[in-house]
Amino acid sequence: MKQQRVLLIIGGGIAAYKCLDLIRRLRDEGASVRAVMTRAASEFVTPLSVAALTNERVFTNLFDLNDEHEIGHIRLSREADIVIVAPATADFLAKMAGGHADDLASTILMATDKPVLAAPAMNPRMWLHRATQRNVALLKADGIHFVGPNTGEMAERDEAGPGRLAEVPEIMAAARAILSEGAAGSVTRLRSSRPLAGRHVLVTSGPTHEPIDPVRYIANRSSGRQGHAIAAAAARLGARVTLVSGPVALADPPGASVVHLETAQEMLDAVERSLPADVAVFAAAVADWRTARQPGDKMKKTGEKHALELVENPDILATIGKSREARPALVIGFAAETRDVVGYASKKRKAKGADWIVANDVSAKTGVFGGAANTVHLVTAEGVDDWPTMAKEDMAERLMLRAAEFLRRSTAAAE
Ligand SMILES: Cc1cc2nc3c(=O)[nH]c(=O)nc-3n(C[C@H](O)[C@H](O)[C@H](O)COP(=O)(O)O)c2cc1C
Repeated sequence: MKQQRVLLIIGGGIAAYKCLDLIRRLRDEGASVRAVMTRAASEFVTPLSVAALTNERVFTNLFDLNDEHEIGHIRLSREADIVIVAPATADFLAKMAGGHADDLASTILMATDKPVLAAPAMNPRMWLHRATQRNVALLKADGIHFVGPNTGEMAERDEAGPGRLAEVPEIMAAARAILSEGAAGSVTRLRSSRPLAGRHVLVTSGPTHEPIDPVRYIANRSSGRQGHAIAAAAARLGARVTLVSGPVALADPPGASVVHLETAQEMLDAVERSLPADVAVFAAAVADWRTARQPGDKMKKTGEKHALELVENPDILATIGKSREARPALVIGFAAETRDVVGYASKKRKAKGADWIVANDVSAKTGVFGGAANTVHLVTAEGVDDWPTMAKEDMAERLMLRAAEFLRRSTAAAE
């Protein structure tokens, strides 16, 4: 972030205090930070604290004669390399989506020609509310970047779910990715075209739940964020999207037709029913095993040891990758490994008949499961591409743009 100019818009949410840490970390990395606070934001953190940490005056009022004379809203919006909105409140997202310009923060966003990264934070019900999801979908279609929200405990007691502000390192990683050349290129292309128009993209996402008895199940830590982000990106790029999802705490991505299910076998059935497709992305963390028997009644303690017998589940990626009928032109698998990530992924690509494998390190230290950012390696027949750490949404966009390019070339070669 060296010498990058960040314009930070702080919204009026309970997570506003985390901006103080964000400012400090951005400055530690050599960025300069200029802050604009909404009126509500100063109910949560004082402009004095923000000014002390940015080492700059803080801007709050659109109609301040002195401010407008010295550095007006147009200059504020242009003298930045990136605009970060954190926390982006439900109210502020609505304003952005509606194109409002009734205070300094919203007017700056209307006037800026720079990339905008929004980090939403709100109560899970507010986040999952149709109005918020509609606004987010509109903003994404307009090319606004998002990081988070994360899923977890809320500031309010006994509240948990999606709505936590992304962690400061995740916001920084997303900003870095946007500022890097590749992401900037993809944003421009995204805004200007729908390269997947006329294509059908099938995506699997989330974990599977394998029942032990009517009340218990075997699960894994997949949140579904990456798969859902891929489905959303494919829809934004013009594809008809079928998302086959295990149980997740995420809203259905706008524009995708979603099949909800629980087990690996149900997922395979839904995938086969959804074919033909041009691209199939198998991002779900499908359980390798299920229990050999599922009793109809809840199992009881007996005071004895109890062993669960497990049998292997069908391998969805290999089944589709190796199928002769209705095999999609591009089959993309995911490899979640905790060591020798690229080595395993290369073997997996060949063994499963996949065209590409997106390999990522999911060891606990990386925070990939449930987190907002991802560092992946794309393994293809041509070799391995190491992608920088980026927000899952940006990784999804990049993957789908690459898929669009693959299809374009295959079609051109066939003509
Ligand atoms: C104690 C308290 C906490 C709040 N926390 C949030 C929040 O985390 N996210 C949110 O979207 N709104 C939150 N709100 C509501 C916003 O402050 C309110 O919608 C405000 O108008 C937002 O203004 P702004 O979007 O211009 O910053 C909270 C309100 C109160 C009183």
